[in-house]
Amino acid sequence: MEATLEVGARLSKARRVAVLTGAGISAESGIPTFRDALTGLWATYDPEELATPQAFERNPVLVWNWYAERRSRVAACVPNAGHHALAELERRIPEFLLITQNVDGLHGAAGSRRMVELHGNIRRVKCSRDGRIVESWDGDLRPPPCPHCGAPLRPDVVWFGEMLPEAAFARALDAARRCEVFLSVGTSNLVEPAASLPWIAHRHGATLIIVNTSMEGQRNGPGIVHLTGAAGTVLPAILAGLALPDCARSPDTGRL
Ligand code: OAD
Repeated sequence: MEATLEVGARLSKARRVAVLTGAGISAESGIPTFRDALTGLWATYDPEELATPQAFERNPVLVWNWYAERRSRVAACVPNAGHHALAELERRIPEFLLITQNVDGLHGAAGSRRMVELHGNIRRVKCSRDGRIVESWDGDLRPPPCPHCGAPLRPDVVWFGEMLPEAAFARALDAARRCEVFLSVGTSNLVEPAASLPWIAHRHGATLIIVNTSMEGQRNGPGIVHLTGAAGTVLPAILAGLALPDCARSPDTGRL
């Protein structure tokens, strides 16, 4: 409780805040995390078999169907109190950026606007040849052809071995370097380059606040605050301790 108040006080004074989220924030919406030993998606499937460009080349139908199944599962889920708290935090901080590794689109559904989706969004699809986003498509049993060039469509997510979208990562890096407070929420911090962002922020003088149900493997030290608990409980508690007015900003105008 004391640490939550300390964080609220720190955030009340901050003008520039960046937040990194991972699969943990969506756990309370019913979406399994990647590395959860019992329910994680990777426990049942080998990611190398499914989430790589090579897998899609080898077996496009299998990969397309796996994503179609995940897409329909995600479509049935709704944002939780953690997502809503971050959307609210955005409204109260003048310069704010939410950086998410999640592909479920739940931050957007909660109302977050100043946001980059580093690993893409499972709700969208794109051409596997030139990456052009395709808004609507038919058929969920095999990858439909791109309406422009006929190449198979694929999910608009970053696969293992692929580069992150350059502009999105540049924006995230800039926010990490400039922010006064960096919140790392529900991520195991194992996948680069997103995993480096909290330490970059910390090195540049930001207070680093880690919100996680488990602090195993998370860094410790001066300028790092651990808030152990579920994001859906901890984030609303932080927000409740904030003494900031609603900045009533128009979407996506913050400089971070
Ligand atoms: P992980 O599954 O690696 O980690 C989830 C983290 O959330 C763990 O540290 C849990 O302790 C924590 N957690 C679980 N429930 C929580 C809750 N209710 N509140 C707060 N924390 C909770 O997921 P990510 O770190 O997001 O990449 O994984 C990063 C990337 O690795 C993913 O984006 C994906 C994956 O491979 C790609 O698909 C490219």
